[in-house]
Formats: sequence, structure tokens, C-alpha cells
Amino acid sequence: MVRKGEKPITYPCFRFFDDNAGGSIINRVTGDSRSVGNFVNNVLFQSLIMVLSLAVYLAYMLSIHVKLTLACLATTPALWLITASFSRKVRPAYERSRELSDSLVLTLVETVQGISAVKGFARERERLDAFQQANRAVREQQQSIFWRVSFFVPTIGFLTQVNVFILLSYGGYLVIRSELPLGAGLVVFAGLLQQFSAQVSNVAQIANTIQQSLTGAQRVFEVLDAPIEIRNPPDAQPLKRAAGAVEFDRVTFAYRPGEPVLEDISFQVRPGECIGILGSTGSGKTTLLSLITRFYDAGQGTVRVDGFDVRRLNLDDLRRNVGLVFQESFLFSNTIGANIAFGHPEAGIAEIENAAKIAAAHEFILEMPMGYDTLLREGGKDLSGGQRQRLAIARAVLLNPSILLLDDPTAAVDPRTETEILEAIECAMKNRTTFIVTHRMNTLRRTDRVLVLEKGRLVQIGTPEELLRLPGPYRNVAALQFGEGKAGRR
Ligand SMILES: Nc1ncnc2c1ncn2[C@@H]1O[C@H](COP(=O)(O)OP(=O)(O)OP(=O)(O)O)[C@@H](O)[C@H]1O
Ligand SMILES: [Mg+2]
Repeated sequence: MVRKGEKPITYPCFRFFDDNAGGSIINRVTGDSRSVGNFVNNVLFQSLIMVLSLAVYLAYMLSIHVKLTLACLATTPALWLITASFSRKVRPAYERSRELSDSLVLTLVETVQGISAVKGFARERERLDAFQQANRAVREQQQSIFWRVSFFVPTIGFLTQVNVFILLSYGGYLVIRSELPLGAGLVVFAGLLQQFSAQVSNVAQIANTIQQSLTGAQRVFEVLDAPIEIRNPPDAQPLKRAAGAVEFDRVTFAYRPGEPVLEDISFQVRPGECIGILGSTGSGKTTLLSLITRFYDAGQGTVRVDGFDVRRLNLDDLRRNVGLVFQESFLFSNTIGANIAFGHPEAGIAEIENAAKIAAAHEFILEMPMGYDTLLREGGKDLSGGQRQRLAIARAVLLNPSILLLDDPTAAVDPRTETEILEAIECAMKNRTTFIVTHRMNTLRRTDRVLVLEKGRLVQIGTPEELLRLPGPYRNVAALQFGEGKAGRR
């Protein structure tokens, strides 16, 4: 929500997270932003000091002896050439190094997050090897950069020392010919040149840091400049409390161009209706739901809520009207109460308890050591799958949304918990438009209508009774779950 006087912020949309691996995003926010900070500290200030002092030394040296000064600067073109060549070569090396570091972070994050799979399939050795390999790649890349730097820095240092050689030869000659006084001329000049050379040899360090920082800056700006497709339209239509009508009008959608995941989908849902969605895995059920909340925009066709194109609606208003329970719900490392109130942090304890009761979570929460104040560990690891799912339902119910989207909420739980969750869902659905993705006939036949998706197409739509009478996927699934004979009876 945008508070008064606050500039509206636009956030990266789902596509950004689809396109960028988690490891890369983390690395950009932590490592790369630090190297941009380095730029300010080590490059901007250092270069300013260098340029100012070089100008002063140069002016002083020229005032003593113009020819000697120019002779001593004879190595400057070589210095620039070497610096330019170094910068050109080291830049891609730094870019590669950051990419390798992305994949190192990704390997680590995936192993930690997927620890049950890793342990369950006894793949510790492989994951460790993968990590070590990624680590070795980063180390080797860093070493190759280090080699370049360790040739470059002494070369620059050597060139500045050549100046001293020129000074002593040519300066000595001038002194012998009495064209330059020894004390006030050569000795002072030598002192100045020493200072001058010391500053010049900083060029090496600065050039190196610049290349490192520019690589970091480029990666940070890729995040900041990520195209934001899902925007609040400037003249957004406000939507206080939606009635809950949903319409898909010839909707086609693709994650990647040319590979449609939903094709020409049209249906209309009345406020308060309960719609079941059936379809084999990958048929586009989750995608269909995510178009209603505008996680993505339809490529062709229009999705409407209460008759308004969702692209015209105020995005905050739209999302506040839609409650979501995902296939697997994410909980934050915070108290149970705060997790339920995630979408509505101002909610009072009475509201939170009420939502928990509707979601059949109240009882088990009271059995926890600190009740609603019990701190959950990261991701709610200390709860069972069913408990997590019920908290997620409570979280959606607390918003009191007009539209409730339930994406296979019982996919990851045992049959007994499934029954409990379904009861909770039935309470939660009252007076709302509900979409429920499920394979369970028991649930589907309690819905008002069922949409059947197959490979991104809407192949059947109708009341459960109608669909049971027609040959097609719905009847096949019913037959599988209940046996042919019983499928007809209810
Ligand atoms: N973020 C994404 N980027 C690219 N392709 C995707 C993305 N999410 C899903 N897909 C693809 O879109 C198709 C439909 O996916 P979707 O998640 O909607 O299926 P689903 O019906 O919900 O399946 P399930 O029952 O397994 O949850 C699949 O082929 C999937 O590979
Ligand atoms: Mg899905």
C-alpha cells in the first residue's frame, strides 16, 4: 500500500524471478552492490586525489625544467596502452568470475533448501562434489585474474622507475652542462618525480578496481532496470470489495514465446460459485489461477473480475480481493499469529483466531507451547504439512477475500489430514467465489461446476452431474477413483 507522501515503488514481477536464478539474485544484492560501494570509496576518491596531485606536481616540475619534465614523461603513452589493454582483458574475466560465483551460491542454496531430497536419496557426496567443483571454478577464475594483476601492477611500477633512470641520465647531463642547478634543480626535481611516480602507480590499482566495480554495477543495474510488465495502470480502476464474478474471454498465455500453456480459454463464473479445476499435471491449472491474481498478464484475450479487465484494476485492490492457498505454502520465521496475519498485519487477535477456527487450525495452535505466539522456525519446518496448509488457509481467510484460489491444497498430505483440510476449506468457501484445483472426486462433486483442462485447453465444463453423464476425462477420473459401477451413484 502506498502511504501519503511516499513514492509508489514498482517491484519485479514473477517473470523476473523466473528468468533469474535465486543464487544470482542473492549474489547481486550482496556481493555486487558491495563492489559498487568499493567504486565510490576506492575509485572516485582515489582518482580525485590522484588527478589533483598529479596536476600540482606536473606544474611544479614544468616550472623547474620543461624539457626534463617532458623527457621524464616519455613512458606515459606506454603506461596508457598497458592500462587500456589490461582493462579490456580483465573485464570479461571479472564477469565470468561473478557468474561462477552465482552458480556457487545456487548450489549451496539448493542443497540447503532441498536437504530432505539430498538426504532422502543419499546424495550428500554428489552435492558436496558439486559444491567443491563450483568452488574450484571460482578459485581458478580468481587465480587467473590474480595472475593478470600480478603482471600488470609491477609493469606499471617498472615504467615509473624508468622515469627515474631518465631523470638521472638526462638530469645529470644537464647539471654537468650547468643548465640545471644541482640542489634547487635536480634534487628537488627528483623528489617531485618520486611523488609523481608514486601517484601514477596507483593507476594500476584504480584500473583494477574500476573493472571490478563496473562488472558489479552492470549486474546491479540489470536488477534495477528489470522490465516491469505488471504495472498499476495510471488511471487504475479502484475495487473496494469485489462481488466475485470472474470471466476468461478467449485467453491465451505463454511463459515463453511460441509455447502456449493456455489456449483460447473462455468461461464465466458467477459471484459465490465454487469451481473445481481438474487436469493432469502440467495442463495449466496453476497458470490459470495466476492470471486471475495478475501474477502474469494474458498474451491474448482478457481476464475480467467483476466485469473489469484485470489490467485496468488497481493491483493492490485486486490482490486484496483474492485469497491464495498454494500447492505448498510458504511460512516465514515469525510467530504463528504473524504468519496468519501476513496479508493483513493490522488484524487483531480476535480476527486471527476466527480465521484459524475457520481453517481448523485453532486447536492445534493452542496445543503449541506459546499458542499464537509460538515462533516458527524457517519455512515452518517444525509443523506438519497439514498444519502448514491449514495456517495458509487461515492466512487467506483472514483477508476475507471475495475470490479464493486453492491450488491443490491437499496435494502433500495424508488422507486423514486431507479430510480435515477439506472440511476447513468448505467453511472457508462460504460466500466467496472459489476456485479449487484438485484430483479428488469427493471434493469435485461438491463444487458447482468443474473445468477440465487438457494440455492448456478447456475440454469440459459443466456441473459434476452433467460431466459424469458424458464420456470424457472427468468420467474417466471418476471411474478410476470409485470404480465404474459406483461412479454413477452419488
Ligand atoms: N514459471 C514458468 N516458466 C516457464 N514455464 C512454466 C512456468 N510455470 C509452469 N510452466 C509450464 O507451464 C505448463 C503448465 O504448468 P502449470 O504449473 O500451470 O501446470 P499444473 O496444471 O498446475 O500442473 P500440476 O498439477 O503439476 O501443478 C507446464 O508445461 C510447465 O512446464
Ligand atoms: Mg499446479
